[in-house]
Amino acid sequence: MKIFSGTSNKPLALAIADKLDLKLSELEVFVFPDGEKRVRIIDKVLDEDVIVVQSTSNPADENYMQLFFIVDALKRSGAKSISVVIPYLGYQRQDHVFRDGEAVSLQVIVETLEAVGVDKIIALDLHSIKIPELFHLPIEHLSAISLFAKKIKENKWNDKNTVLVSPDMGGIRRIKLLSEELGNMPFISIEKNRDLTTGEVTVGDINEKVLPRAIVVDDMISSGKTIAVAANVLKKNGAEEVIVFATHPVFSIDAPKILQEGKLEKVYVTDTVFISKEKRFPKLEILSVSEMIAENIKSA
Ligand code: R5P
Repeated sequence: MKIFSGTSNKPLALAIADKLDLKLSELEVFVFPDGEKRVRIIDKVLDEDVIVVQSTSNPADENYMQLFFIVDALKRSGAKSISVVIPYLGYQRQDHVFRDGEAVSLQVIVETLEAVGVDKIIALDLHSIKIPELFHLPIEHLSAISLFAKKIKENKWNDKNTVLVSPDMGGIRRIKLLSEELGNMPFISIEKNRDLTTGEVTVGDINEKVLPRAIVVDDMISSGKTIAVAANVLKKNGAEEVIVFATHPVFSIDAPKILQEGKLEKVYVTDTVFISKEKRFPKLEILSVSEMIAENIKSA
């Protein structure tokens, strides 16, 4: 087996390779002066099972194009099978038509991944449970929920002073799974609304009991507005401490500042998306999904 990495999240690819007792195989991504890229596989892959790790986070378009070219180059070099680890699947929030006239961007991505010759996808905490249905190839859908449960237990937060919180109705399934893993901890959900034109986030009042410690769990943090608004309403309703767990640190624009200055004490995310030094902040802690991905690859 050989493992390659695109350029979007090399630290995670290295960690996965390490846990598989493999070295990252060599490929070259050359950027022409006009921005176009040329991908070349350097190591031999003839008749090999190949893993490619590429998170399609910001810049999603570039990272996807690079991934398509890597897969094409591997195919042309005779790889036996190509499994692609996409720890964060870009465009996953555009998985259906929200308003008349919109493209279903994720469908276009899925069709392109299939067309270039991907044999299998490994992804984490997809925005909707229905996303795997868009693929006609095998997809392993892993979740960071067990990592979060472990951290909560380590901190002894699975106590009677703590409530799990979904920041929107779409996250109920996720919060139920975490609750079950933690021996049926109580959970509540906030009613969130996002203006599709401005992106502004508002929430309704909370009608359920908020306990002194609130643990908010989401699939991703992009602008940070969902979390900031959730933390505000939780504090207003009696929470003394707000802890956040989110799988994908998309961290657009000034999300790190919003989170650091928000009414919350701690933010746990995973390494599905690489976080540059400038985007790290004191309240942030990163949990690694490398072990989980490596175990999944080993068990295939
Ligand atoms: C939305 O349904 C997702 O689960 C996240 O809550 C959302 O994408 C977070 O985005 P932002 O950080 O921009 O509010």
